[in-house]
Amino acid sequence: MIAIVLGTRPEIIKMSPVIRECERRGMDYFILHTGQHYSYEMDRVFFEELELPEAKFNLDAGSGSHGVQTARILEGIEHVLLREDPDIVLVQGDTNTVMAAALAAVKLHIPVGHVEAGLRSFDHTMPEEINRIVADHVSDVLFAPTRVARTNLLREGIPEERIQVTGNTIVDAVFQNLEVSERRTNALELLGLEPDEYLLCTAHRAENVDSRMKLEGILHGLSRIRSEYSLPVVFPVHPRTRERIMDFNLSLDGIQTIDPLGYLEFLQLERHACLILTDSGGVQEEACILHVPCITLRENTERPETLEVGSNLLVGTDEVRIVEGVEKMLNKEREWVHPFGDGMAGKRIVEIIRNSSIFSSR
Ligand code: UD1
Ligand code: UDP
Repeated sequence: MIAIVLGTRPEIIKMSPVIRECERRGMDYFILHTGQHYSYEMDRVFFEELELPEAKFNLDAGSGSHGVQTARILEGIEHVLLREDPDIVLVQGDTNTVMAAALAAVKLHIPVGHVEAGLRSFDHTMPEEINRIVADHVSDVLFAPTRVARTNLLREGIPEERIQVTGNTIVDAVFQNLEVSERRTNALELLGLEPDEYLLCTAHRAENVDSRMKLEGILHGLSRIRSEYSLPVVFPVHPRTRERIMDFNLSLDGIQTIDPLGYLEFLQLERHACLILTDSGGVQEEACILHVPCITLRENTERPETLEVGSNLLVGTDEVRIVEGVEKMLNKEREWVHPFGDGMAGKRIVEIIRNSSIFSSR
């Protein structure tokens, strides 16, 4: 029995190909939702649009400081694992949900599988970097999306036989939903946008939006792009960012802010944007997969493959550098080959779990 743990927007999206594959094969599995994300547009909308089965458990952990949130999840997961005794716990990515679930499982001697293992920004001030390192080092099977991720793990002394390069499940998610998104949604029309004639922005990293200076730099950059290029800038605003904009009383002049979108709507906006600005991990990957140039509002990235293929540029949060970045990337040739795999990662992961010998010791 596989326990699939998820708790936030990106985990629901990136686990969806694994869940679909478990369904297709009739595997014995259940979904445990930690409730780290709970607002309709950060959670339920994805279950509905991606037609995912309901979670068997929801811990309703909700928001809180790192200590409080992690502790609630840890306690709740331990309780469920003791009762259900699954053969493996599967986690995805780098959130507090992931670290707490991996820790709870390993202490109960339940094997852990980490999807999207081995990503490193080498920036220990990011909570995600700590979560990734902890999850990787307690995992029994590490599903590295690329060879770069595999190399990171080997350098940290993780035994080679634990690592499997599978591709990133985000490619599966994009391929599985792109056509449906074109058929079922008319996000562009609803927002009054023309294909290739707008920029799309997302920003939610704590180190960016919890800093007045950085968030203001981003918003000023967006306003300047709007006035210098006469192109609309659409910004679906993450709840953390929405709160900080209000706390800091910042101006959104010239920026078309909207609520966070469902996956089908957001994919459509990404696909037809002339440029994407983001500090999101998943959005950097999707821009690369969809051949849309990307500007990353950070000084580092745990997705260096995107810099290597030329789909992405790091500019930080200074308004001048943001505008210069737009100038550089707007007319970028879109010929790159994306490095994230063939869209079969979910199938590979489930196949590896099925054939794995890690359960034999239990
Ligand atoms: C979390 C992850 C981050 C991931 C992001 C995906 C950690 C440490 N951070 O960041 O790695 O990139 O999710 O989006 O795990 N809120 C709502 N509704 C919700 C969820 C959150 O209003 O459904 C608000 C609350 O005010 C909350 C704040 O957003 O305090 C932050 O939520 P939290 O889950 O702590 O972190 P994220 O910034 O979402
Ligand atoms: N996304 C979405 N609606 C939005 C913004 C993002 O569906 O309004 C999707 C996006 O396509 C990507 C994922 O959310 O697959 C990224 O999540 P997020 O940026 O919250 O987290 P990160 O990837 O940085 O951990």
